[in-house]
This record gives sequence, structure tokens and C-alpha cells, in this order.
Amino acid sequence: MITLGIETSCDETSCAILEGEQNLLSNIISSSLNRHKPYGGIVPEIASRHSLENIQIVFDEALKKAKKKISDIDLISVTYGPGLIGSLLVGVSFAKALSFSNKIPLVGVNHLIAHMEANLIEHSRPKGDYLGVVVSGGHSMLLHCKKGQYQKIGTTIDDAIGEAYDKVAKLMGLGYPGGPIMDRLAREGDPHCYRFTKPKLKSSLDFSFSGIKTAMLYLIRDLNGKLESEKNHLAASFQHNVTEWIVLAVEEAIKKTNSKHVLVGGGVSANSLLRTKLQDLGKKLSVDIWIPPLALTLDNAGMIARVGYDLYKNKQSVGMDLTAKPNLSI
Ligand code: KG4
Ligand code: ZN
Repeated sequence: MITLGIETSCDETSCAILEGEQNLLSNIISSSLNRHKPYGGIVPEIASRHSLENIQIVFDEALKKAKKKISDIDLISVTYGPGLIGSLLVGVSFAKALSFSNKIPLVGVNHLIAHMEANLIEHSRPKGDYLGVVVSGGHSMLLHCKKGQYQKIGTTIDDAIGEAYDKVAKLMGLGYPGGPIMDRLAREGDPHCYRFTKPKLKSSLDFSFSGIKTAMLYLIRDLNGKLESEKNHLAASFQHNVTEWIVLAVEEAIKKTNSKHVLVGGGVSANSLLRTKLQDLGKKLSVDIWIPPLALTLDNAGMIARVGYDLYKNKQSVGMDLTAKPNLSI
């Protein structure tokens, strides 16, 4: 079976061709990131225009790289939320038009689930219950997958982890997106140079990142022109703390749910320190902690095709009434 994946929930426009369950023949991504850089964050109008201008090109390229024709496609799988309404509408409309005109079945995919299940391109789905961890620009959450249903068991009470990285990087004048730049700088700094207090929360499975962001704001202000020489230490200290808090919550969730498998996903799972710490945690607890290869951590249509494949196998499909849901939850 050949599945076409389409992802346009934010600043990336992506199409992928998946053969069977795991053979990713192509996964083309066109990012509008450079067009947002002057504004220090995503401008929704620019993101949706970029998708509109590029979706056909990206689709053609995905087919070409996979050496397939439209008539080879058995299923179309598209992100319908959560995300930016304008961007989502481009992908959903494109998918519906292709489905209608070529009589190909259509499925709608939740972007958050796809981030975790990107791991299923390399691994088989765990047999029993498992834990899911989403760490992205818009979300930070822990999910317990029980009998095929995801249940949210922890979440951020304020900023998402990626959002915190991006905001702190902006305060330090590092540019957008801040996560990868901070990650790079952190490798050259002392993680214990600056100390931050772990937020006290009602649930040990929840997160909060707005306190450390404010603490960073004051530190940067008080550095008075000495910021340049401290950037590496600030980045390293920030990264040391936020990754520690995530790993502590994941450890707690593993113990509470008695999980033997953890599926991690989302842009921040590209973070070098977080990857190492999670892998160490997996060894310590003898639990399989899966993190996708770097190319599948950021927004991409490969993960959308993979989720769509399973939905269709479970006899789920949608019709022309599929619509974009910007606030789609789990
Ligand atoms: O999953 P994603 O591509 O988009 C959303 O669905 O939100 O995640 C983007 C986020 C951005 O906030 C970006 O700064 C962050 O992922 N990110 C990183 C790294 N690479 C990307 N954060 C920390 N370290 C990284 N290496
Ligand atoms: Zn994403």
C-alpha cells in the first residue's frame, strides 16, 4: 500500500510517500523559516502563503523522488490540527481535492500523535500500554496510551518547552528559532554557572517554564553589556535545568504508569542533551525510550503518513467534510 502524507500545520510544507508500514520512499520538507526570521517568530500569514505557493511543488517532488505516480497512491493522510488555521487549510484543501478528483481514500491526522508515532517508522508499535512524550514549539505533554487510546497525564501549565527556548534565545539576541542555537552554545558553556529553582507544581507530571524565562530576563538585564561573554554559560545553565525537569517528569510518569516503552517526539526532541539524558534514563530503568532520527523530530509528512496508515488499517477514513481544527487536542 502506498500512502501520501501531507503536513502544513505551521511553517513547514511537507509531502511524503510511505510504502507499506515503514518504508519511507520520500519525505520532502520546504520551510518558510527564513521568511520569518526578521520578525523573531512565526508570522501566520507568511506561513500559510508559503504553503499555498509550495504545496504543489513539494507534492511533485515527493512523487518524483519516490518514483511514483498519482495513480499509485492508495491513501491520502493529512494533518488537520492542531496548528495555524491558514496553514492547516492549505494542506486539508489540497488533500481533499486530490482525494475527490482521483477517488483516493482520505484520513485526517492529529499532529501531536504523529510526533510520537514518528518512532513507528523505525520500531513496531509496543504490544501493551506505553508512555508518550511530546516536546515541541507549541506543546509539552505526557500521555499514557492505554488500549490504543491516548490520555493526557501531564502538561505545561504555561509555556511549551520549545516556546521557552525561542523566547529566551530572543532575549539573548540569538535569532529564531532559538532551540538549535541555544543547543549549540550550551555545548561550550558551564551548566552549573547559573542556578535556577525547579518550579513547585501540584502534579509532578506537569511542567512550567515561564519562571526560568523571567529569571533569564533579569540575569540578562543585570549583565549590562557583559552578555556576550556569558552567552554560553547562560545557554548551558538554562538547558541543563529545563532538560532535567523534563527527564524527572518522564521518570515519574514511567514509574506511575509502569511503562516499558516511551515514544518521544517533537522539535525539542532534536536537543542533544535531552536525547542523551533520556537515553541514560532508559538504561537506568531498563525501559525502551525511543526518539526519532533528527530528520523525523521536526515537522514532516513522513510521520503523518505513518499514523494515517494505521488509522486506515483500523477502518477509519473521512470524507469531504474533513476540516482544519486549529485547537485539536488529544
Ligand atoms: O515540532 P516542531 O517542529 O513544531 C511544532 O510542532 O511546534 O518544533 C519546533 C520547536 C521550536 O521551538 C525550536 O526552537 C525547537 O523545536 N527546537 C529545539 C531544537 N531544535 C528545534 N529546541 C531545543 N534544541 C534543539 N536542538
Ligand atoms: Zn510539530
